[in-house]
Amino acid sequence: MLKLGNLILNVPFVQAPLSGYSDYAMRRLALDFGAPLTFSGVMLAKSASHPKVLRKPAFRPHEDEHPVGAQILGAEPATMAKAARALQDIGYDIIDLNFACPAPKVLRRQRGGYLLNEPETVMQIYDRVREAVTCPVTMKLRTGFDSSPQSYDNFHRIVAETSERNIDALTIHGRTVMQKFTGEADWDTLAEIKNRFSKTTIIGSGDLFDPQTIVHRLETANIDGVLIARGAVGNPWIYEGLRAALKGEPAPPRPSLAEQAEVIVKHFKGICQLHEPTRAVKYFRKFIVQYCRLHPRRRQVHRALIAANDEIQFLAAMEEWYGNEMLSEVS
Ligand SMILES: Cc1cc2nc3c(=O)[nH]c(=O)nc-3n(C[C@H](O)[C@H](O)[C@H](O)COP(=O)(O)O)c2cc1C
Repeated sequence: MLKLGNLILNVPFVQAPLSGYSDYAMRRLALDFGAPLTFSGVMLAKSASHPKVLRKPAFRPHEDEHPVGAQILGAEPATMAKAARALQDIGYDIIDLNFACPAPKVLRRQRGGYLLNEPETVMQIYDRVREAVTCPVTMKLRTGFDSSPQSYDNFHRIVAETSERNIDALTIHGRTVMQKFTGEADWDTLAEIKNRFSKTTIIGSGDLFDPQTIVHRLETANIDGVLIARGAVGNPWIYEGLRAALKGEPAPPRPSLAEQAEVIVKHFKGICQLHEPTRAVKYFRKFIVQYCRLHPRRRQVHRALIAANDEIQFLAAMEEWYGNEMLSEVS
């Protein structure tokens, strides 16, 4: 169980916000495979508070995907509050505040992970957003801006002050902003934080790629939940594996080529609903790299699928490499 304010999930994991990946097509698949909650990729608060932008289908949650969270990025408390309210109004069930993003263009504008240097601003944003919405409010942090003692103090201060104000959950990626994705995630710090702030819901993130490791992390860090991020890209099966592992059941069998094909084509068709077909084929390439890892001839399959320039070529390559029996059924 994972409690995020009044949102209670029956398993302790959620699908991460993944910019450029966690659109409706990916979120829908995650739900089908057992993720109890998913997030949109991060949205800029300035855009997300604009009615014209909010009318775009890509920004809106779909009726069949609740609960679903929105994550926002920004440095101005009033804009963040306005965006949070607008996103709640169009149907998002939870608002997550991003103080973790390490992208240079985000840091240059003093947003995302940069704000770990400014605990006062973080708290002002939190207070304004908390007042503006009735749904759960959570925060995504990293373990500091960099490895300096000052950074660690700032991080601790944010955790302590949000805990005092009963934040609904803190999701912490066990790396500093400056580390980006290098090195290994520091799960000792996550365990230490949970130990110190035992009443606060802590969700851990970092290097969670397979169900066994994930269950081990949950147990050893004694945290409340985990965030599944890169481990779910091209691998929605991770969620059913994780559900089995949490119950102590054997791992489900590796998906057959026919099952893989069914999921890949379903995902691809979902993307075709969101983008015009030629763009969809290009956009989908980043998922193909990951999906192919399950295929015994992964290099050849990868080469064939990314060579496709339109929907027909893509489906033809799928038929060639995954067999054609079921492809006609899903189309
Ligand atoms: C391509 C990509 C996009 C991401 N987008 C977001 C995002 O929009 N918001 C966010 O809070 N974290 C984002 N993250 C970070 C993940 O949510 C997660 O914290 C991080 O990848 C560590 O977990 P992992 O090592 O298990 O992947 C992103 C990560 C990747 C690789």
